[in-house]
Amino acid sequence: MRRIPIPKNALVILVGPAGSGKSTFARKWFSDTQIVSSDRCRAMVSDDEANLASSGRAFQVFYELIRHRLALGRLTVADSTALSPRVRRELRALARGAGVPVVVLVFATSPQTCVVRDASRERRVGPEVIDRHHRMLQAALEAIPREGYNAWYVLNEQAQEEVIIELTEPQMARRATRKEVREMAIQRVGVVGCGLMGSGIAEVCARAGYQVVVREVSEELLQAGLRRIEQSMARAVERQKMTPEERDAARARIRGTTRLEDLQDSDLVIEAVPEKMDLKKEVWRALDGICPASTIFASNTSSLSITEMATATRRPDRFCGLHFFNPVPVMKLVELVRGYSTSEETVATCRAFAESLGKTVVVVKDHPGFLVNYLALPFLLDAVRALEKGLATKEEIDTAVRLGLNHPMGPFEFLDLVGIDTTYYIAEAMFAELKDPRYAPPVLLKQMTLAGLHGRKTGRGFYTYG
Ligand code: 3HC
Repeated sequence: MRRIPIPKNALVILVGPAGSGKSTFARKWFSDTQIVSSDRCRAMVSDDEANLASSGRAFQVFYELIRHRLALGRLTVADSTALSPRVRRELRALARGAGVPVVVLVFATSPQTCVVRDASRERRVGPEVIDRHHRMLQAALEAIPREGYNAWYVLNEQAQEEVIIELTEPQMARRATRKEVREMAIQRVGVVGCGLMGSGIAEVCARAGYQVVVREVSEELLQAGLRRIEQSMARAVERQKMTPEERDAARARIRGTTRLEDLQDSDLVIEAVPEKMDLKKEVWRALDGICPASTIFASNTSSLSITEMATATRRPDRFCGLHFFNPVPVMKLVELVRGYSTSEETVATCRAFAESLGKTVVVVKDHPGFLVNYLALPFLLDAVRALEKGLATKEEIDTAVRLGLNHPMGPFEFLDLVGIDTTYYIAEAMFAELKDPRYAPPVLLKQMTLAGLHGRKTGRGFYTYG
């Protein structure tokens, strides 16, 4: 007899090839309500097994049922015939999200009981084919990395008959270490937008060792963004912040695309598109249908509500703000914005992620402008108002702030760096929310935005650039 202790709140994952008897034994050991089967979810959404879209929907249902049970603290057995690395990753993320342990039961099987299945039918095949297939399956099972699971049991056919499942008291999952969070949770980062911020974010992620896919709306904008990354990396080599070898390796980790679908394998997606709520929601709605349920979504918004943006998705718990500062490779701060529904797990994972980029994190509430822009905007807009009133010239105001307040840049140099248009949109959004005149965008800022004088990125702002 083999006793297998399983905490009453665990997620049990069954792993084994078709024909290994895992579903049969699972039904002997666990009650029907404890088992969530992907096959049953598939039958719930469609009669057509081979239809890929319905298969995607079936897995959404599968994950939702599991998430719901785990949130209620109930023992849950995941039975899926398609236990790909992606499904296992999703399941581990669900368990981590609920803070429960994961127990894996591997059903090893002998060649005689091996049945080869294709999309819709079963075939019994000759002994050599069975043997080859069996060895392939065994190799695949052995190759499954075991980190990230709390217990792992391999059952051979005979042992399956003799197993006693012992339910034990609920346990909290061990908290993952930073290194594990990085290794398990986030390896591939998707970045939407390759403008000033998006290109900087893609660059720092690649420099920290992540695989990055960055998406722009047109080939022309994409190439401009990739050039910006290459120039910044060249500058970093010049300043001896990285070696030419590190630059080449980091550049090779970045792939550009114009298709949002290419972000489907991302563990984390960071969005850096213009500061317009409707546009951001549209992007998130589309990504929600493309990325697996475990993918964390983070917006680089400077001022818009994270809580509102998250309503465009079915994952408000895995949605937060990661607000970087310009120039991204140089500025050390990341504001991590906790939306109303953001889970502690998401905050912890994103904090570890941002720290792995070499940034210092400050966690802030979801408030218009968060913290830094809440403080900085009135100062910057007052500088524009001072110019409008003719208190001094722009050069004099910049000099006064640099020398009198010891800021590294004057307000107009700063606005040209950040973007006149970006600042205008931030001010407009903050004024709309707060109705506080300190955030009302001055007329000059609006006119410069409309006229295309957006600062350094367009060659002209308050100053002219070569
Ligand atoms: N990669 C890595 N490091 C780089 C780099 C790159 N591509 N380019 C420059 N650096 C490093 C340099 O080596 C140098 O490092 P060191 O101090 O160790 O020698 C450091 O960055 C400064 O670089 P420079 O000497 O070229 O530049 P300056 O001393 O003239 O500083 C500046 C330039 C960092 C932009 C400085 O003027 C500054 O700090 N300005 C204020 C920037 C700021 O406040 N940004 C926040 C904007 S707000 C925002 O983005 C939020 C949004 O919501 C509005």
